[in-house]
Amino acid sequence: MKTNQWLGILAAALSGVLLAGCQSTPSPTPAKGQISHRPFGRTPDGTAVDLFTLRNANGVEAGICNYGGLVIFLKVPDRHGRLGDVTLGYDKLEDYLKDSPYFGALIGRYGNRIAKGKFTLNGQEYTLAVNNGPNALHGGLKGFDKVVWQPTIRATREGPELELNYVSRDGEEGYPGTLRVTTIYSLTPDNALKIQYRATTDKDTVVNLTHHSYFNLAGQGDILNHQVMLPADTFTPVDRTLIPTGELRPVAGTPFDFRTPTAIGARIGQDDEQLKFGGGYDHNWVINKPLGQLGLMARVYDPASGRVMEVLSTEPGLQFYSGNFLDGKNIGKGGWAYKFRNGFCMEPQHYPNSPNQPNFPSVVLKPGQVYHNTILYRFSVQK
Ligand code: BGC
Repeated sequence: MKTNQWLGILAAALSGVLLAGCQSTPSPTPAKGQISHRPFGRTPDGTAVDLFTLRNANGVEAGICNYGGLVIFLKVPDRHGRLGDVTLGYDKLEDYLKDSPYFGALIGRYGNRIAKGKFTLNGQEYTLAVNNGPNALHGGLKGFDKVVWQPTIRATREGPELELNYVSRDGEEGYPGTLRVTTIYSLTPDNALKIQYRATTDKDTVVNLTHHSYFNLAGQGDILNHQVMLPADTFTPVDRTLIPTGELRPVAGTPFDFRTPTAIGARIGQDDEQLKFGGGYDHNWVINKPLGQLGLMARVYDPASGRVMEVLSTEPGLQFYSGNFLDGKNIGKGGWAYKFRNGFCMEPQHYPNSPNQPNFPSVVLKPGQVYHNTILYRFSVQK
């Protein structure tokens, strides 16, 4: 994201449009769209959290909780104009607290895996909790998906926004530096859920923030008929613990070639070592675009509903995970038991294990620098 966009937001705030302190300040109806909020429960330490509902002028709705920045629902039209929820998750906060495979989560400080939970920065070794086989995953035992964020709601010319702020202290989950993180959720006039991340640090650290909604554009069943297009000539193959080997491997001639739209299920069962390691697709694709530039990362089409989801981001990589660890034990919204491959994730991010791979784009953030990452999930229909 460019600095002048942030200045635009700041200008809006200074001109009195900011609705800080959402619990106490009544929200005037913004020009386009609406935002409302209601209590969503309490965390184990008794902190009350809210569910914020953003609605754009087309009726698209996103429900977001300031616990974990969780996207609780996302309702978008099908080819007949019928709104349907395209994300997996729960109706109640207590279910998220009990057991969630990162449904709808805001992931940080480091999304995806860090090998053996260790990395070295400026000659000093840092040790993280090992929470996924031998590796560290998604920010640790209490990552950004399990903390309470400070919410602020605001009206802008484009529509309402929810801003979440969190300060991750020096040493939290083993990471160096106090990290101040701002995440802004909004719905655009062209039906995208837009997520903007910004972070600063007071010591050199590593940062890799992403979003972890599980999508099912049909709103039921498995996702094997969804057609995926990924504009990537290479991907990062992994070892059996899902840590990249460091190689950027051409997708040509492999089941990882999604340069033309292909059903997720078309090749997922092939006798391929990489598919076996992932239990399906659970890999990082190296997207064909300049580093830091906002561009298309994925296009997904569901022939049953006609829904199309395009993923855009400023990030260099995309983790496409085909829901291989879903096993029916999580009973979600409307009593749906989420079974094997009933949802998929598209997580724009830096490559897994980047802190230990000098040939991957750097994830180091230094004092005085500003981390930016913008992700859009944009919805339309194909007749
Ligand atoms: C990872 C998967 C993991 C899932 C849920 C994804 O980002 O790539 O391996 O199972 O998150 O934890």
